[in-house]
Amino acid sequence: MRIITIANQKGGCGKTTTAINLSACLAQNGKKVLLIDVDPQAHATLGLGVKPGDFDYSLYDILTNFSGDIQAIKESILNISPNLSLIPSEVILSAAEQNLSQKKEREFRLSKAIEPVASDYDFIILDCPPNVGLLTFNALLAAHEVIIPIESSFFSLHGLGKLMETINLISRKCGHKLRVKALTTIYDCRTRISEEVLAEIKRCFQESVFKTIIRVNVKLKEAASFGKAITDYCQKCTGYVDYMDLCMEVINMELKTVVEAAKDKKIASPKKLENGVLFKIYSPQASNVFLAGDFNGWKPEREPLFDIKGDGVWQRIVDLEPGRHQYKFVVDGKWIKDPENPDILEGPFGENSICDL
Ligand SMILES: Nc1ncnc2c1ncn2[C@@H]1O[C@H](COP(=O)(O)OP(=O)(O)OP(=O)(O)O)[C@@H](O)[C@H]1O
Ligand SMILES: [Mg+2]
Repeated sequence: MRIITIANQKGGCGKTTTAINLSACLAQNGKKVLLIDVDPQAHATLGLGVKPGDFDYSLYDILTNFSGDIQAIKESILNISPNLSLIPSEVILSAAEQNLSQKKEREFRLSKAIEPVASDYDFIILDCPPNVGLLTFNALLAAHEVIIPIESSFFSLHGLGKLMETINLISRKCGHKLRVKALTTIYDCRTRISEEVLAEIKRCFQESVFKTIIRVNVKLKEAASFGKAITDYCQKCTGYVDYMDLCMEVINMELKTVVEAAKDKKIASPKKLENGVLFKIYSPQASNVFLAGDFNGWKPEREPLFDIKGDGVWQRIVDLEPGRHQYKFVVDGKWIKDPENPDILEGPFGENSICDL
């Protein structure tokens, strides 16, 4: 399960277009997606054809009245298509910042509210307003990753400092590390400025830039005005192709990063030691990592790993009997094979890593 916030304080850079169409493409690829509209302008809500009056509860109710009641959150979730759901927004959300200003833990309201339903989804996508206020702060604290859409025009990189500062502050003060990736949007290949901005984005963000570039495409604008995602409006346009490419890049990102980083760190896992077998995985973005295997009844909660040094390497020594053992890591709820161990075996629930002692 991954929670991705789409943020940039600059207005009109393609946040909502990205939130809607990335969500819809993920859903078309069989992922269960919850899109949360965190903007009082409610453009993501309207862009999916949901109007004020179509719903009883919105994000405003969740943020201001939330008391940990799962039923209340479930009632605010609207089904848009078989794999895509939405928590809508409405203009009153703009009053939330003021209403919450005296409340305890006001920055964590959103992350606490979605916690009980998060495991129902593969992806939760949050569409932010064009400022770095309390709503964006809530969205950043609720997420594992941030996508920063950057429009290919003059001044598009101006003002990004405040957002990056907030992201660093969240990491330092709250210990909440976010993986940041920039996305080039509204790219017009006929103009020199687009090329120049792209080069500047690459200089600023280096490898943390999506390879996919979202080109200017009028169909994206039209789709939004008809209250549709591009998947339901036109599958033959560049807007669809670009957002589908982005979707595949997002899907493939996680495992690749874990595997590549583990290679850099030269992690040997599993490794036999005097006092047991050392299991290790490099996963700097993870909030929790567990080990599940036939030796603990495939109950991951029995075997948590710890990032001892705070360098993203999670580890645990397990006392194992001689023989063959099958296992998997559970990274933020996602079951994955050991990226450093080439030995695998097909089990009833897919491939497992194996450890022979
Ligand atoms: N690739 C694109 N090609 C053409 N038009 C686009 C593209 N991306 C976005 N737009 C249009 O640009 C406008 C702004 O886009 P969008 O609403 O996604 O930006 P935003 O960052 O969410 O804005 P805000 O800051 O107000 O929330 C919209 O009219 C949208 O339809
Ligand atoms: Mg928007």
